[in-house]
Amino acid sequence: MAEELIIEEHTSKAEKYQSLIPQIEALVTGESDLTANLANIASALKYGMEFFWVGFYQVKEEQLVLGPFQGPIACTRIMKGKGVCGTSWAKGETIIVDNVDEFPGHIACSSASKSEIVLPAFKNEEVNLILDVDSDVLNHFDKVDREYLEKLMRIVEKLL
Ligand code: SME
Repeated sequence: MAEELIIEEHTSKAEKYQSLIPQIEALVTGESDLTANLANIASALKYGMEFFWVGFYQVKEEQLVLGPFQGPIACTRIMKGKGVCGTSWAKGETIIVDNVDEFPGHIACSSASKSEIVLPAFKNEEVNLILDVDSDVLNHFDKVDREYLEKLMRIVEKLL
């Protein structure tokens, strides 16, 4: 395994994802421990894409429970249908929030977080895990993030 990710500077967001995602796939190949893999994915995304906060929530006994993450401390449990993460879980779909203050019921783990994208990963056709990515700027996430992070979730699903 490479010790460091190769992060190209001065490239577009799409090019960064195109470079990063195969490196993430290589990083998790050959490792069977889910926690270890999610921890490395969170770090690769946080530092590769310079996000404010990146983390996973795992479905455990009808709640989302905080898993591996990178960034400031975060709330540990989220109920189904609550906040952006709980809504993504309930709907089984990606949610992009341009301004967290305008999302009804948004759960503010950090006042510095301004926009976010939340994506589900499925196991046996049910949501098993949620990826939450936060930015400290408004309107950070768009269809490019959706496209590549959804590709990443299909890789994560192979680990579940
Ligand atoms: N904002 C999320 C909660 C998780 S933290 O942002 C890390 C939500 O509304 O579900």
